[in-house]
Amino acid sequence: MESVIYFNHAFRPEQEATISVRSRALNYGLGCFAGIRGYQTDDGRQVHVFRLDRHVRRLEHSARILRLRLSGSPSEIAEVIVELLRRNEMRGDVYIRPIVFANSNELSPLLDPDTSETAIFCLPMGRYLSAEPIDVCVSSWCRVRENAIPARAKATGAYLNSALARREAMDDGYTEAILLTEDGHVSEGSAEHVMIVRDGQLISPPSTADNLDGITRQSLITLAREDLDIPFVERPVGRTELYVADEAFLCGTGAEITPVRSVDRRQLGDGVIGPVTRRLSEHFEAVVRGRVPERADWLTPVW
Ligand SMILES: Cc1ncc(COP(=O)(O)O)c(C=O)c1O
Repeated sequence: MESVIYFNHAFRPEQEATISVRSRALNYGLGCFAGIRGYQTDDGRQVHVFRLDRHVRRLEHSARILRLRLSGSPSEIAEVIVELLRRNEMRGDVYIRPIVFANSNELSPLLDPDTSETAIFCLPMGRYLSAEPIDVCVSSWCRVRENAIPARAKATGAYLNSALARREAMDDGYTEAILLTEDGHVSEGSAEHVMIVRDGQLISPPSTADNLDGITRQSLITLAREDLDIPFVERPVGRTELYVADEAFLCGTGAEITPVRSVDRRQLGDGVIGPVTRRLSEHFEAVVRGRVPERADWLTPVW
């Protein structure tokens, strides 16, 4: 079955959803996007989109920061997403990618609400990173700062920064990179947030540390505090705290919860998934699979 894409206000066969090589979106990286997951329930009969309202609201915020325009209200876009999953017969775990971009073919980088285009595609997707602990490094590339390209806007162009860090990490034999802010504090991974555990306390840098206002991160903070009684603090995190943390993990829509085995070749704990990371992972998995009735309002059914 040919994939169905939402593009230019309608559902179309993938072949028809094309843009020109002249597009400003391609030439200058002018756009913003979202990454959303849907999860199959254990009985295989339902798919739930995780925190759909939060994701479309953040996309609308991103477009507003960039002076682009979403092709509908957040609730209309949420409805489009559910319909897209139905039209593509998505009955297993799925990833959804809405993108809003500057679709003018004129020269010169200009952000303009009137030439904004919204496209949405989806694909079946399992893990993005391993569920097993991974080796990461601190990147030689700094995270791009808020007053240069705001990470909060999830801007397509900002992913050159992520891609440089990821290329370097992989060339050097690591699975992923952690970027620091220009003043040397932990910002985030190439496409994930960073959390550490020290003396039983969960710690993560604030969303003002040049990172994305993360939906998985916020969800995990809520689960830790309200459901699991794990103490949490948001504060700047120094580079070398990564080396002496008892546990660390990356989190995000793509990465879900990915435990870290070592940072810059310094092993954390016993090099296996730690107890706090394990508790959070198991609870998160239960929530997204629809096994926690108290968190059912985080899930939007597709079928
Ligand atoms: C740079 C970056 N940081 C963090 C995240 C995680 O954010 P969220 O949990 O909202 O998906 C992402 C995307 O998934 C990202 O691209």
